[in-house]
Amino acid sequence: MKKDPHSYADDAQPTVTHLTWHVEVDFATRTLGCVAELALRGDGGAIDLDTRDLTIESVDDGVAPLRWELAAPQPILGARLHVELGAARVVRVRYRTSPDASALQWLTPAQTAGGVHPFLFSQCQAIHARSLVPLQDTPRVRITYDATLKVPAGLRALMAAADAGASASGSRWKMPQPIPPYLLAFAVGELEGRDVGPRSRVWAEPSVVDAAAWEFAAVDDMLTTAERLFGAYDWERFDILTMPPSFPYGGMENPRLTFLTPTLLAGDRSLVSVVAHELAHSWTGNLVSNASAEHFWLNEGFTVFAERRIVEALYGAETCALQAALGRRSLDEAMERFSAQPELTKLRTKLDGVDPDEVFSEVPYEKGYLFLRAIEEAAGRAAFDRFLRAYVTEFRFGAIDSDDFARLCERELPGALAKVDGRAWLDGAGLPASAPALRATKLEAVERAAAAGGVPARELTAAWGPTEWELFLESLPRPFGACAELDATYALTASRNYEVLVAWLLLAIDSQHDAVLPRAEEVLAHVGRMKYLRPLYRAMVKRGGQVRERAATLFARVRATYHPIAQQVVESLL
Ligand code: BES
Ligand code: ZN
Repeated sequence: MKKDPHSYADDAQPTVTHLTWHVEVDFATRTLGCVAELALRGDGGAIDLDTRDLTIESVDDGVAPLRWELAAPQPILGARLHVELGAARVVRVRYRTSPDASALQWLTPAQTAGGVHPFLFSQCQAIHARSLVPLQDTPRVRITYDATLKVPAGLRALMAAADAGASASGSRWKMPQPIPPYLLAFAVGELEGRDVGPRSRVWAEPSVVDAAAWEFAAVDDMLTTAERLFGAYDWERFDILTMPPSFPYGGMENPRLTFLTPTLLAGDRSLVSVVAHELAHSWTGNLVSNASAEHFWLNEGFTVFAERRIVEALYGAETCALQAALGRRSLDEAMERFSAQPELTKLRTKLDGVDPDEVFSEVPYEKGYLFLRAIEEAAGRAAFDRFLRAYVTEFRFGAIDSDDFARLCERELPGALAKVDGRAWLDGAGLPASAPALRATKLEAVERAAAAGGVPARELTAAWGPTEWELFLESLPRPFGACAELDATYALTASRNYEVLVAWLLLAIDSQHDAVLPRAEEVLAHVGRMKYLRPLYRAMVKRGGQVRERAATLFARVRATYHPIAQQVVESLL
């Protein structure tokens, strides 16, 4: 039976347990030449694998050819590769990826900080691993792997795995802990590393690496704090790769090697909660994985909760509360955007025939967070902490759905789900009226300043950090009449903090303060993080007329520099 709406994997068939992967990276054709050897476990004479845009050259069992058939590609799932196994328990596939592989972005030298060498990276979540390797691309089937990556001279390959040394056929990597396929990851470029702790090294292009090592210096404190909260760290190392600006996410929790956007390099360490978030995934997501994208809230809601516990422990309750308040604001906005599609505001979603990238939103993150906060309040923190530990222990290296969560919750915290109306949280649209209210003294001061209207006095803002500024800008009534004066006083257009900058640009665009448009266009041309692309394009489109035209013209010009997923997302906005 097919259990994951986004995979052809059939649980009546054998499962892939180990991948041996040989890759030759060819920047000239923007393809990977690959051999993937899959070790299988279980009974059954055939296996259905997920693929997308792969050119299959041969399929054998290591010795003799196997019968295979590649079905016609389907829009979301890709093409099913059916292999007749007979008695074989190894499948070896020779193939080439497509220049349009949805998991890959190929960057020209001009798109890197150094400007001399090209760059390549993978991004597999949720269902893009199949454009790199034919496999059962569902988190329900974990694999270990060995890989060899051959890259052009002068470039370094990094993989989200243990470094197993170099060989004549390339750099070698080993992933001994079983992972869901969406955590398969690598990058190739001109890369340099700096150790920032006994278990952590920060990687980046040479001109960026010192700034990155400085910005992320707290990583070892975060690691020890997280271990105290959630139990031993199971992945040995926690390294960071600072990506080129076109990276489409803030961060991606690739095991042992988190990928981070360079927009976090604010120069003041103010955006490191993203590091805490990706680190927290080491427990919630990478150890305990959602069984499919329909239960994505288990990955992200738990991780936002864990992230904020790390932030609270290291930076205090006020900082945590401010960040939670920003989260609540973004949730309210998402709820409003989805007012015509209430099914997308549920935690448990039905995604048959739906592309996970198209329905990505803050809902699983922030509604999931509030759900867990509600349970924590009902049960008490000490009991909830015991539940969290039990959750990780019980489900480690597994994949679970919302019912598995509910059952464990009932076992560990009897009555808590009923008390908060767990059904309404999981299967109801919108936010239950009983959702915890987030309070913080600093938060109230900022909200008062915003409600007062006008440009706040310097005395009032003297102690504000970037989070207060972001919250303030997002809280101002729109249209805001004093944009020019606000910018003249506080130089917001020149802000180095992308969260503040983008909040300001959105306020200004909504308020018809079009002096900011050149800066907005600069951001859109330089940064591929979808968290910024989406609202900026949306705001420009909403203005209509010439501003809308500028957005369309800009997109036509820079489109090819965007990640394939970002291209799709912006297209659907325009
Ligand atoms: N796993 C996500 C990124 C992701 C989600 C990639 C869905 C592909 C599909 C990552 O952990 C994440 O949530 N990143 C956030 C940062 C976080 C602090 C909320 C981001 O990219 O902004
Ligand atoms: Zn996440």
